[in-house]
Amino acid sequence: MKFNKPSGSKSVSEKQPSASMSEYGSDGKSNIKDLLQKQVCHEFDNERLYFAMALWADYKGYTQLAKFYNEHKQEERKHGMDFVNHMLARHMKVMPPCEHKQPENFEDIDDVIKQSIKREIETTKMIGELYAEALKTNDMALTIASKYLSEQHEEEQLFVSLYSLWKKCNGNIIDFEMEVGQLKETGKYKIGNFGVH
Ligand SMILES: [Fe+2]
Ligand SMILES: [Fe+2]
Repeated sequence: MKFNKPSGSKSVSEKQPSASMSEYGSDGKSNIKDLLQKQVCHEFDNERLYFAMALWADYKGYTQLAKFYNEHKQEERKHGMDFVNHMLARHMKVMPPCEHKQPENFEDIDDVIKQSIKREIETTKMIGELYAEALKTNDMALTIASKYLSEQHEEEQLFVSLYSLWKKCNGNIIDFEMEVGQLKETGKYKIGNFGVH
């Protein structure tokens, strides 16, 4: 059966969008894209660093500390995926996370926790740069940068609290192992945790 083409209708090929997909959506300035992609890589690097720490701790027999780091590595993965989703939702091309070599051997528990604090401070600095750039260019990455500045407040608090607990235990690994789980589960030993009483 032959259908008559309605007069004035356009052929399929004429209806194809002339713009490339990258012209749709609010996909941000290129420096914002670069900072977001950098953050994706960094969060997955954090995941691998904390996994290396978990493996080291378990090997040394510090099973509760290993559990702490193994759980925390999953947090970092969630952060990475949050940045991935933010980019994808804006139709930005996301490259698979580049892998920077992470430390694999650690001197002792003191070294592990100090390196964690250092990494979290570095992460906060990077998110601060993203926030400043988004503010300057009026970019919607401001929402995710703002969310992760708050998140970093908690992350730094967690690791400084871990160090504070370690110092309190004065090298007694049995005490430390018995209490380390409390930090995440109940907030016990967390600094800056007075609440509003
Ligand atoms: Fe993170
Ligand atoms: Fe973190």
